[in-house]
Amino acid sequence: MNFHVLTLFPDMIVQGLHTSVTGRALDKGIIHLNAVNIRDYSKDKHKHVDDYPYGGGAGMVMQPEPISLAYEDLTKNMGKKPRVIYVTPQGTTFCQSMAEEFAKEEDLVFLCGHYEGVDERILEEIVTDYVSIGDYVLTGGELPAMVMMDAVSRLVPGVLNNEDSAQFESFHDNLLEHPHYTRPVEFHGKRVPEVLLSGHHGNIERWRRNESLKRTLERRPDLLEDALLTEEDRRYLETLGYSLPRREE
Ligand code: ADE
Repeated sequence: MNFHVLTLFPDMIVQGLHTSVTGRALDKGIIHLNAVNIRDYSKDKHKHVDDYPYGGGAGMVMQPEPISLAYEDLTKNMGKKPRVIYVTPQGTTFCQSMAEEFAKEEDLVFLCGHYEGVDERILEEIVTDYVSIGDYVLTGGELPAMVMMDAVSRLVPGVLNNEDSAQFESFHDNLLEHPHYTRPVEFHGKRVPEVLLSGHHGNIERWRRNESLKRTLERRPDLLEDALLTEEDRRYLETLGYSLPRREE
């Protein structure tokens, strides 16, 4: 996976990603990061990359030319036009299935805006996906781009230590993950659930599945509508007072 980021703050991206799991994956060469400073492509003697908005109004707008030149330079040796994600609160909200889709690409380009926005003409020319990380406004696109690169990286084979661990956690099957416990067996008067100490794998699996169902029902009931549920899952949910519409097979 090759991540390319068009940004005015490449150091922020490089430092952020060279940490923890993504840092190790970069060191091992499983993922690659190319943070491009848009300012390097400014032809202005003061290296300006923004200007006043036509029509007036507050704030500055990023100019199309430096972004266009950075994009041309970046893509000139790529076989095909890459997916270009413009991170913006006006985009579709990022989610796990989008991360899975992005993880299939060989190259992903993120365009990070700043100031009031980016000249619309360059967006129309190069952007393939408009993506937001949620309904709130940040000062720039770098953090959202890092969020997305983190979520995509951990789906790239070899990035996580345990190959299986990306599959069995929150949002797998559209269910939230069960709670976890480690030593000591008693902490502040609370014991680890006995079933986890029993060594009975069947019971442990059923308990974990039920905890996932209960937690999803309590915290994110909206997810249950698209969850893959067995008859046993449905019966358990019914004991919690919920019955779900049956899926058409
Ligand atoms: N840029 C500023 N806020 C953002 C958000 N919530 N998502 C993506 N990009 C952004």
